[in-house]
Amino acid sequence: MLPIFAECFPDLEQVMKNKTENKGYPFPQKALVWEGQYKDLSSFHDVTWLEDNVKPVIKSYFNDNKINAETFNILDFGCGYGKLAFSLAKTYTNSLVWGVDIDEAAIDAGRKKAQKNSCSNIFFEKIVDGNMPDVLKDKFDIIIMADVLHDLPDPNTIMANFRTVLKPGGYVIAFDPPIYTDHKKNVGYNDAIDFMPYSVFTCLPNSMSERPAIGHGIGWGYEDKLKYIESQGFQVLAIDGEDVKFPKWRIVFK
Ligand SMILES: C[S@@+](CC[C@H](N)C(=O)[O-])C[C@H]1O[C@@H](n2cnc3c(N)ncnc32)[C@H](O)[C@@H]1O
Repeated sequence: MLPIFAECFPDLEQVMKNKTENKGYPFPQKALVWEGQYKDLSSFHDVTWLEDNVKPVIKSYFNDNKINAETFNILDFGCGYGKLAFSLAKTYTNSLVWGVDIDEAAIDAGRKKAQKNSCSNIFFEKIVDGNMPDVLKDKFDIIIMADVLHDLPDPNTIMANFRTVLKPGGYVIAFDPPIYTDHKKNVGYNDAIDFMPYSVFTCLPNSMSERPAIGHGIGWGYEDKLKYIESQGFQVLAIDGEDVKFPKWRIVFK
């Protein structure tokens, strides 16, 4: 990652010098490529990871809505180069997976890979300003946003638009680094040590790249994120009775 951080320095210096307005820059392309293709997180996006982190949520969604079905539609919001979307499509072969992102190069790469590998249950769509295409209205049982919520410059619009594409009773799963909002608690805490520097070069600037430039980044933290989700009219869910009071990677809400 260090060469990627080094390439960010000129942009970072420029936006930090700007005293007249809050400004950032979009997620650096090389960081996106690394996240989507080369990130060595074998435990993160593979089948075991889906079994542990996504399967219980799908089960809970089915039970909650008294649905007896084997197929469902999943939206991977902020899919980047599509590592998670392809894992989902490969695992849930009878279901449809859509990946959407603001980054055109990532969406093009996803489409080409789907075509090359003859994946018929995966689709990619570039979105602008968080607006969902009409074809996605009321379509999804589950929305997943992996490492995305804290990156958004305008999360209010995105959360409102989720309502238009979710089926009634649909669930959202946000995977986000489990950092405390109270930064005193992050001292000596490994997840904070790992993720906060990354955020300074990529997540925080992206969250200031467009109006209203909310400027969250990973430092936003878990406690305030839960309050924020509820302030948008969603209910945070404790899957299988988990304790949602302490920072977790996975936040599920409906
Ligand atoms: C940290 S990357 C995560 C990518 C992917 N979900 C993963 O886990 O590898 C954040 C993603 O959010 C996307 N993104 C940022 N702002 C966005 C917005 N306003 N609308 C849609 N996608 C956005 C970025 O382009 C990027 O692909």
